[in-house]
Amino acid sequence: PKLEKFKDPLPVPKFIRPVGTKNGIPYYELEMTEFYQNLHSDMPDTRVWGYENSYPGPTIEAYKGQPIYVRWINRLPEKHFLPIDKTIHGAKDNPEVRTVVHLHGLNVRPDSDGFPDDWFTPGKSALYYYPNKQQAATLWYHDHAVGITRLNVYAGLVGLYLIRDEREERLNLPSGEYEIPLIIQDKDFNDDGSLSYPAPNNNGVEPSIVPGFFGNYALVNGKVWPYLVVKPRKYRFRILNGSNSRSYKLRFSGEAGRILPAWYQIGTDGGFLERPVKLDSLSLQPAERADVIVDFTGLENQTFTLINEEIPPFGPPLPEIMQFRVSGTPVKDNSSLPLILNRIKPLPVKKAKQRNIEIVVGQDELGRFMFMLENKKWTDPVTIKTKLGNVEVWNIINTAAAAHPIHVHLVQFQILNRQPFDVQEYTATGTLKFIGPPVLPDENEKGWKDTVRAEPGHVTRIIARFGDFTGIYPFHCHILEHEDHEMMRPFEVFKHKS
Ligand code: C2O
Ligand code: CU
Repeated sequence: PKLEKFKDPLPVPKFIRPVGTKNGIPYYELEMTEFYQNLHSDMPDTRVWGYENSYPGPTIEAYKGQPIYVRWINRLPEKHFLPIDKTIHGAKDNPEVRTVVHLHGLNVRPDSDGFPDDWFTPGKSALYYYPNKQQAATLWYHDHAVGITRLNVYAGLVGLYLIRDEREERLNLPSGEYEIPLIIQDKDFNDDGSLSYPAPNNNGVEPSIVPGFFGNYALVNGKVWPYLVVKPRKYRFRILNGSNSRSYKLRFSGEAGRILPAWYQIGTDGGFLERPVKLDSLSLQPAERADVIVDFTGLENQTFTLINEEIPPFGPPLPEIMQFRVSGTPVKDNSSLPLILNRIKPLPVKKAKQRNIEIVVGQDELGRFMFMLENKKWTDPVTIKTKLGNVEVWNIINTAAAAHPIHVHLVQFQILNRQPFDVQEYTATGTLKFIGPPVLPDENEKGWKDTVRAEPGHVTRIIARFGDFTGIYPFHCHILEHEDHEMMRPFEVFKHKS
């Protein structure tokens, strides 16, 4: 359908409150349901899935040092409304509607992490315990059921989870109505307003999984191309790329010759940066978050568009995301943009165990190509085993032609560098011949991360300490179409036996 841009105001997800306490700690309940919601005023309401009858789901606000319980309840129908490929892992002989919730970025026990095979069906629920031992950060929750994550997230099962702490309070950042999440996703619609997701025939399988999804419409917080009226002052935006496959390179654009709002990144996936990083553009791969301050001071009565310069490997570009309209009356702004935000100690590289992890292109039994980690499938035995508390460097060797956002559960890591290598030589002989020096991470990547852009033809090196819990966790590509098609592997953290 033809939808007018910047017609609807940006919705802001509500905060959810606990329904009571359990063992003396706050206890929340979130129900997954199917309902109709207006995603653009030129379109009839759209059938979506959400938490608490809302897409995106409500924001959960947690405090460091204060654990919470969440009961995730599946009240969805027995039938999925999107095209299911029953030939991929986890989808054969299993119920169509399966859900399990992963709190992306949280350091948590495996039985509360939302393991892909721990799915439950309509009528069932799971009680998770979130310790919230880590620093203030922008986390998010989303569905993670094996073989169907891409469709469940596309249907709307996403929400934000903010951890706050004392340091954050002392920073005096814009807060309240001046702190706004921006959950960016791309989608496609049929003319009747229903969600459309490709269902091609691939090697005799129909509907078949696709190698990526790139929609024609940009949604922010569940509205297509919304606008936001802002005051001429500083705002704090929690930007999440919640798209299935699409990466963004965001930039502000305004009337020719006019000054653009200054913006600064203050936080990454897992917490605050050491210092604000002045942004020109902001690149975000699927699942990456950026905590930013945008300063509209002195820009009364001007309109800015958040544009996207990233060109996808295939499918349509999505050049516009949303609009900001600065209102006319000057206001007093008491919030700050501090010079120092955090202390980030580099993890010790010298003592770390080195591990190579390849990204290769493979084929499934039906001859469809797919991306793989370690040249293995999700259900192949665990090979990565590390002792609790160990520090490891993972060298992610990307032999494929495009970038993949690699996400590791349980930990927040640091990016060491990226180094180009001779892919042909490596594929033929298995030796890494570097063809350039290591490149340090971007300024706005020098913080705690749980998802990293593994560039093609590069070894991307990350370092993490594997704690605070033992058990089996996944790591995977966060392009959901890849994750659902075997680009996911388990790793194990075990207790030291002396
Ligand atoms: Cu955001 Cu394993 O996922
Ligand atoms: Cu991928």
